[in-house]
Amino acid sequence: MLTTRRPRISVIGTGYLGTTHAVGMASLGYEVTGMDIDQNKIAMLVDGEAPFYEPGLTELLRKNIEAGRLRFTTSYEKAVADADVHFVCAGTPQLAGSYRADLRWVEAAFTDLAPHLHGPALVVGKSTVPVGTARRMAEIVRRHAPSGAYHEVAWNPEFLREGRAVEDTLRPDRLVFGVASPWAEELLYRVYQPIIEDDCPAVVTDYETAELVKTSANAFLGLKISFINAMAQICEATGGDVLRLAEALGHDDRIGHAFLGPGLGFGGGCLPKDIRALLACTTDLGLHDVATLLAQVDAINLSRRSRTVALGRELLDGSYEGKNVCVLGAAFKPNTDDVRDSPALAVAIAVQQEGAEVVVHDSVAGANARRTHPELAYADSLVEAAQDADLVMVLTDWTEFRSMDPAVLSPLVRRRTVVDARNCLSPESWRAAGWEYRA
Ligand code: UDX
Repeated sequence: MLTTRRPRISVIGTGYLGTTHAVGMASLGYEVTGMDIDQNKIAMLVDGEAPFYEPGLTELLRKNIEAGRLRFTTSYEKAVADADVHFVCAGTPQLAGSYRADLRWVEAAFTDLAPHLHGPALVVGKSTVPVGTARRMAEIVRRHAPSGAYHEVAWNPEFLREGRAVEDTLRPDRLVFGVASPWAEELLYRVYQPIIEDDCPAVVTDYETAELVKTSANAFLGLKISFINAMAQICEATGGDVLRLAEALGHDDRIGHAFLGPGLGFGGGCLPKDIRALLACTTDLGLHDVATLLAQVDAINLSRRSRTVALGRELLDGSYEGKNVCVLGAAFKPNTDDVRDSPALAVAIAVQQEGAEVVVHDSVAGANARRTHPELAYADSLVEAAQDADLVMVLTDWTEFRSMDPAVLSPLVRRRTVVDARNCLSPESWRAAGWEYRA
């Protein structure tokens, strides 16, 4: 049943994950068709424009379109007809009013592609989903595919980070193949052969384990960040220095330095919602101790936002009322224009609600923030944002902010007070320039 020619690929859903995956697969030399029901997104991609900011992606997108390996369409039929391996990259956002993931896009993708599966086909879910979804999707495909055609479902979670998506796709730490047969395993090995030959380990599992690898990886990363933020609270209460503490902890190979950066905590379109979805799942399973652990990770993370607001209030002598606050950063982290569940915007809104005049500056994510939070005021430059500020709050650790010179801001502001919520400034140089500095 395995064809000897190179497998052809379709990618269903061209959001962050799907676009990067389609471009990545085309870069490995495959014929790839990307498909989305969003006509605007497809029109942009056809023109060689990525629908979001991601370093290095636009160049590779254009290169592969020009080489004739990468096409885009809004038609399931066209995308699926000639391909052998179909990657489903539909989004799974948090369901409104619930901790659960909204699976409607994933279900729609499996349901709508299945009738077009005429030859032997492997349908590979890449979306982050609650455990049990792959098995359900296999049943959906079985029900909707033409009778007689051979098809299987596999799950192959993706671990890419925004801002490093291209690198993470082409040189991942590991591949995970959740499969139901040696045929599916062999086909995935073939598709990922160039990456595996580059020394990337592949771990073969059942569906459930593959689904859980992804959610537990994100839960563990969140746990690490919330752990160091919990230590930050102890340091604050006792006079310890959490940055030195984190440095010393990280030298232990068993702990490591990564994701031990204390500060405003995590946000974005993945970590918070994936931890909450796992929390909902463990609650359903009656695993209350596990649910409590995950709930604490989320609670400690959210408490960093209110602590940052409180820090600014203390610096402003107890009230934001009528004060000008310059907010630096809108993205949930640097090198992305993503403002989903952004800790920076959450703080900006809370400060505004306490009566401050807030001006936000983010050179890359400003446009998205303007669209999603029109109630805030925005400035196109750092200098404009800092004008007459009573307080400067650094909420996303962009290089632009890390490297700013306090002497340049000093004559612009009304009061030299700064909250460094990402521990990204040098306290010594800001204090030497006459600023009251808190982190
Ligand atoms: C994350 C996972 O890393 C990735 O594997 C998965 O596929 C998707 O979710 P991403 O959302 O791009 O990726 O962000 P990540 O780089 O993990 O950062 C998450 C958040 O944690 C950011 O808000 C960041 O500012 C924060 N963070 C990170 C900290 O607060 N401290 C740290 O030490 C590291």
